[in-house]
Amino acid sequence: MSRGRFITLEGGEGVGKSTQTKALAEALGQRGLDVMVTREPGGSDGAEKIRGLLLAGAEDRWEARAEALLFAAARADHVDKTVRPALESGRWVLCDRFIDSSLAYQGGAGGLGIETVRAINVAAVGDALPDRTLVLTVDEAGERARARDSGQSDRIGGRPKDYHRRVEAAFRIIAAEEPERVRLIDASGSPEEVTQRLLDAIQDLLP
Ligand code: TYD
Repeated sequence: MSRGRFITLEGGEGVGKSTQTKALAEALGQRGLDVMVTREPGGSDGAEKIRGLLLAGAEDRWEARAEALLFAAARADHVDKTVRPALESGRWVLCDRFIDSSLAYQGGAGGLGIETVRAINVAAVGDALPDRTLVLTVDEAGERARARDSGQSDRIGGRPKDYHRRVEAAFRIIAAEEPERVRLIDASGSPEEVTQRLLDAIQDLLP
């Protein structure tokens, strides 16, 4: 049995990641692949508990390092209990946010630095690194519309605009550093158009 492929979807707040993760799973299912959809923080019992600690409460509930380590602890449990077993049984795994969210949010925007957060996370995930990471991006106009439309936010989503600008910038740095794995995907246009762009960006991985 060959190992399944591990695809992660990333991006800032409200770019349509969850919708697109489901749409991509459906499209891959139609091609005969056995696909599992999961998300972070969460995706296993332990990680869902940690999600509650991370996303609720006062903005300053956790200091930056503690926050990064909690995301990594949730990720380690998610990988052990959910992601690795699925990949080893030959399933494809589509994950709504993964390691690159920590690099961009805690590393790039939160001030710890991308490399420090990468080191913590490499220890957390071991060999369960994504085969491809698709980062949904919006331009300035899309950014304004998104800010206008966004409703209530959690501890991290509710951080100042400047924090989220640094998140976007960090995703672009990560994509430039690892162009083979990480692809920037234009999230404008109809949902169907965006799903097609995602499929095009993983074409070489399809059987
Ligand atoms: P979620 O409700 O899943 O938001 P979204 O719909 O935007 O994906 O909440 C996840 C929040 O946690 C989101 O603001 C991004 C943040 N986050 C990090 O800061 N670091 C991480 O490693 C992950 C996985 C998420």
